[in-house]
Parts: sequence; structure tokens; C-alpha cells
Amino acid sequence: MSFVTHPPDRLFALQAETLARPRRRYSFAARALFSVMDTAYGRAGSLAKFRVLEIVARVPYQAWENVAYVAITHTSDTPEFARGIHDRVVEARAAQDNEQWHLLILEELLHAQGTRRTLVRGQLLPQVMAVTYYYLSWLLYVISPQWSYRLNADFEDHAEHEYMSYVADHPELDAEPWVSVFTDDYGHHETLGDLFRQIGHDERIHREESEVLIDRARFGD
Ligand SMILES: [Fe+2]
Ligand SMILES: [Fe+2]
Repeated sequence: MSFVTHPPDRLFALQAETLARPRRRYSFAARALFSVMDTAYGRAGSLAKFRVLEIVARVPYQAWENVAYVAITHTSDTPEFARGIHDRVVEARAAQDNEQWHLLILEELLHAQGTRRTLVRGQLLPQVMAVTYYYLSWLLYVISPQWSYRLNADFEDHAEHEYMSYVADHPELDAEPWVSVFTDDYGHHETLGDLFRQIGHDERIHREESEVLIDRARFGD
């Protein structure tokens, strides 16, 4: 997996691709999660809502990593097979780190705005959602990895569209410079518009990787 930092022209083209592509047909569990988010944080995209989305976004990768390490222990008497599981761990870890940069960048932007975190909507609810989503992802993965990958593909598809639509709805972001301590970690973008297009594209990569894993699980690879 690689998260490439794209130049502005390419980011505009990628945004157009996302906006032209219909959303996936979301599962019941995914729709339930999105409606909780819409109810608590509003239907429209916002930095506060995206922060919660990023807190939740990391947990399926953590759940998969957890299950995979246990599986490596149990299959270590067939090292080549266990090595294949390790490759999944490496992929999950890279996506998890990528989501983490998204989260820290959003926190940094909220701090710069002077936004204060509230107890219920800012702290408790995101934690409850993340824990619930973790165990759901974990359980689905144990029963059928394909189900867990599908839930994540729905989540990532939703995130991809949310970010790209947010930039489309807020053209003023293209005039706002992005200043951050995370440019060495995440890559440099001149404006907030480009930053959010890049994040939206990262979500697309996450979605596409989960879709590949759905097919691999389907064909027993
Ligand atoms: Fe993300
Ligand atoms: Fe993502």
C-alpha cells in the first residue's frame, strides 16, 4: 500500500471521479452508523464531524491486526501461510497510520479555530462509537472476513464522498493556506482544499483495498 501525495491538478481530477461515481449500496450496519453520526453531528460535513469519523475509521484496522496476530500464532507451524497473514498486518497498519494522520491534522485545525471539545459529543460519544465499531468489525472478521471488509468498504466509500463533497461545497477552502506541523509525516499541500481532496483520495484507496480483500475472501485466496 502506498499513499501518494498528489499535485493540485491531479487532486481536482480525482475529486471529479469520486463525485461522478455512485456510492456503494451500504449495508444496514453502515447506514445505522452514518445515521448516528448525522444525528449527533449534522448531515453536512464539518471539521468536528470529520474528527469523529477519523476516530472511528482506525478501529477496523486495529481489529484486523489483533485477529491476524492471533492467527499468526496459531499457524506458525506453517510459516509460509503465517507469512501471508503478516502481509495483511502490514497493510492494516499502513492504513491505520494514514487514518491517524488524518485525525491529528483535523485536531490541529480544530485547535487553530479555538474549538473546544465537549464532554458528550466531543469525547464520550466518539469513544462509544469507536468501541462498538471495533467489536463489530472484530466479530464480523472472526465469523467471515468478507463481511468485515464489506463494512469497511462502505465506511471508506462514505468518507471518500463526504470529504470530496465538502470541498465542492466550500470553494473558499482553495484560498485558505494549510499550515501544519505534520507536513513531513503526511505530505505538503498549499491549501485546505487540496488537503481535503488528498484525504478524500486516501479514503478511496482504503475503500479499493477493502474491495480487493472482499474478492480475495470470496475466492478463498
Ligand atoms: Fe481518514
Ligand atoms: Fe479511511
